[in-house]
Amino acid sequence: MLIAKTIVEVRTVRWADSNVTWGLVPTMGALHEGHLSLVRRARAENDKVGVSIFVNPTQFNNPDDLARYPRMPERDCDLLRAEGVDLVWAPDPPEIYPPGYQTYVTVEEVTRPLEGASRPGHFRGVATVVAKFFNVFQPTRAYFGQKDAQQVAVIRQMARDLAFNLEIVTCPIVREADGLAMSSRNVRLSDSERKSAVVLYGALFGASEAWKHGERSANKLREMMTRFIEAEPLARIDYVSIADPGTLLEIEGRAEQALLSLAVFIGEVRLIDNMVVGN
Ligand code: PAF
Repeated sequence: MLIAKTIVEVRTVRWADSNVTWGLVPTMGALHEGHLSLVRRARAENDKVGVSIFVNPTQFNNPDDLARYPRMPERDCDLLRAEGVDLVWAPDPPEIYPPGYQTYVTVEEVTRPLEGASRPGHFRGVATVVAKFFNVFQPTRAYFGQKDAQQVAVIRQMARDLAFNLEIVTCPIVREADGLAMSSRNVRLSDSERKSAVVLYGALFGASEAWKHGERSANKLREMMTRFIEAEPLARIDYVSIADPGTLLEIEGRAEQALLSLAVFIGEVRLIDNMVVGN
């Protein structure tokens, strides 16, 4: 497994043989089974697999969150080597944002609700860094997790609008045995917070069961999820949403198909999760 720092190194490896297909898994490191599921899918569908590890400063709207984001590069590389990854790209920030950098990618409507409303500037940072990765790496396919449902929608929109020549593959959420969605942020939870964190899955599961049993009122589903989370003392709601899966706008009437999503602080740690109901 090659570990590259610079754009020149990545391009040299990528274009050593132009007939080879490459899958790219962009990550911010602190890898868990969710990331490894993306790597395995990329491994199965491409001749070669590249993984980027870069904690992207421009997508953090809170400097404390950036400072506290877990970093474990050696452990990450060991995990990726064991998965048979061909190339890891772990650039230093000036390689991505050199002095004088001034170009950003702004995706419009789809970035406004949900995470975009709670974390101003977040998707500008995500779209910019992912566009740069696509441009440098030029993968045949790129892999993203459904846990960041809005991120996937934003990247798909950007790739379509800017005509990136690649396929975007979305992979299912990977959960712990009790239902908590895997996330790099989970390592920051104390033991008691870790137990409370299952409330996100509980709220989604409860609402999706109600939907399966015929409940279609978006308001009732939202209220049900809200009440469930409010009963957990360590949890503080950022948002609870029943949205149109295409536009991500809130549904006010009947939810025939919907993205159920939520962002909740468990202590200081902000977690997100989602489920889709309907086709
Ligand atoms: O999902 C992530 O880990 C990040 O948002 C991504 C896509 C690697 C961009 O920094």
